[in-house]
Amino acid sequence: METDTKKPGRQNLPRHVAIIMDGNGRWAKKRGLIRSAGHAAGAETFRRMTYYLSDLGVEFFTVYAFSTENWKRSEKEVSAIMALLKKFLLEAIDLMEKKGIRLRVLGDTSRLSPELRALIKRTDEISTRIKSGLVANLCINYGGRDEIIHAIKAWASDPEKKELTEASFEKYLYTAGMPDPDLIIRPSGEYRLSNFLIWQCAYSEFYFTDTLWPDFSEAEMDKAFDAYAARDRRFGNAK
Ligand code: IPE
Ligand code: IPE
Ligand code: MG
Repeated sequence: METDTKKPGRQNLPRHVAIIMDGNGRWAKKRGLIRSAGHAAGAETFRRMTYYLSDLGVEFFTVYAFSTENWKRSEKEVSAIMALLKKFLLEAIDLMEKKGIRLRVLGDTSRLSPELRALIKRTDEISTRIKSGLVANLCINYGGRDEIIHAIKAWASDPEKKELTEASFEKYLYTAGMPDPDLIIRPSGEYRLSNFLIWQCAYSEFYFTDTLWPDFSEAEMDKAFDAYAARDRRFGNAK
């Protein structure tokens, strides 16, 4: 896909874009459909946006797909989401190399089914063979607080641990080795993080839109990029 460099947002693209994929349930309800139909539509939007960001040359795309708190939902809804994740991973196994997209799953995978864990192992193996292109991070059973506790435990039990600093701690996070998100987008008219990337968001720029995730589009992404390009990121410095 051609990128229009004259467009304001394209000059200053974020390296790392993160999205809280929210509003699937409301999207379905508006159409008289069951919630899982909203999740299926949301998965399709994720697919489309991954290809779009890959074409634009964004380096990292991190999406919140299932939180540590989402287990509170009905058994029916949770299993529908898990079935969609399985479908998504199977498709990724087929397409990642062809498309040059690495897929990583971030979160505590120990609570996922052995079948899903085996598929994640395969996508991990395929990812290590791909040397360039977009890294898509799918956050499943992910919670920012859980990630921090997990990291502290990993640091404490590391026989080669160094003094704990911001830089040494970063290596124990699920996002180890990746830059912090430059831009975090939350659709669906909610203005909260819901436990997403709470360590990494320290200097992220935020973009909120009322659009429900299944209706999110390339045009909406462009609007977020335009807003991002106009931001003055000072990181505590003074002019
Ligand atoms: C986001 O959509 C997907 C997940 C949290 C799994 P929701 O299911 O939260 O949709 P709303 O917020 O109820 O509309
Ligand atoms: C956040 O959305 C989690 C995901 C999008 C996966 P929620 O719908 O679970 O968040 P709350 O409950 O509205 O804060
Ligand atoms: Mg929601």
